[in-house]
Amino acid sequence: MAHVCDYEGSNYQRVFWTTERRYEDLAEHRAVRKLLPPTGDLLVEIGAGFGRLADLYDNYRQVILLDYAESMLQQAQKRWGHDPRFRFVQADVYRLPFRTGRLDSLVMVRVMHHLKDVPTALAELSRVLRSDGCAVLEYANKRNLKSIGRFLTHHQTWSPFEEPPYEFVPLNFDFHPRWMQRQLQENGWQIQRQLAVSHFRWSLFKRLFPAEWLAWADDKAQGIGGAWKLTPSLFVQAKPTHSVYEGGTIFRCPACGYETLSAGEGALRCPRCGAVWPIVDGIYHFR
Ligand SMILES: C[S@@+](CC[C@H](N)C(=O)[O-])C[C@H]1O[C@@H](n2cnc3c(N)ncnc32)[C@H](O)[C@@H]1O
Repeated sequence: MAHVCDYEGSNYQRVFWTTERRYEDLAEHRAVRKLLPPTGDLLVEIGAGFGRLADLYDNYRQVILLDYAESMLQQAQKRWGHDPRFRFVQADVYRLPFRTGRLDSLVMVRVMHHLKDVPTALAELSRVLRSDGCAVLEYANKRNLKSIGRFLTHHQTWSPFEEPPYEFVPLNFDFHPRWMQRQLQENGWQIQRQLAVSHFRWSLFKRLFPAEWLAWADDKAQGIGGAWKLTPSLFVQAKPTHSVYEGGTIFRCPACGYETLSAGEGALRCPRCGAVWPIVDGIYHFR
């Protein structure tokens, strides 16, 4: 059975981010802007899709947009390929091709809800971030106001109050905030701040008010809402609890974990296991 929700060939960009989700897009931009250190050396966005959030990375010296799906990276390349600070990497979050403790900042938005094995992914994410680095991680909240209302009025059979993740369609999960907090703590993370995002994800609000107004109001509620955690989307700022910092090159072998790769003609090569990782049309392939 597939372990990854594969977006290869999907029309995510067109369907989701043209007009219908403009409010969510604006609200999420505001949340990331609050949580992400504004400057740094190397930032990686995991499951970056078509690079929707990459306008927030202006003051990073190097930016890597990583995704499992090559077609998503090709779309990201169309938007950001003109900027020499950007690199595009095809890889799996469970086996990241980065050296231990190498990254300054990590962003992962709208990806956690596709992960069947959250603990493994969180441990891998914490491995690659330097000890004083910062991660902004978003997840879908099962205990949101709408699902509580539906449950209490018998329009929903599953309980939003139970802790285990709820898989509403294959490889799409909603998580309980307490469950997610425990996973973070047990897999190498110290939570620093939490924001509640998308207070107004209701069709009535979206019909009545412009997206910009809703995003402005959401912005004002995100901090205090982080205490109740009743919105469909929660953002966490966290730092790793381990204390490793490794400078030097960026990539490591995702097959055997060897921490240095040698550069060859159009590829990176692992001196230990012999794996060859091609670079084709500006995309690094690590899958
Ligand atoms: C809903 S889209 C979100 C894209 C972007 N983060 C955004 O908010 O617009 C989910 C993305 O996660 C990627 N993805 C899913 N599972 C992944 C995995 N195991 N490793 C890397 N990327 C993954 C998908 O290919 C897809 O581009």
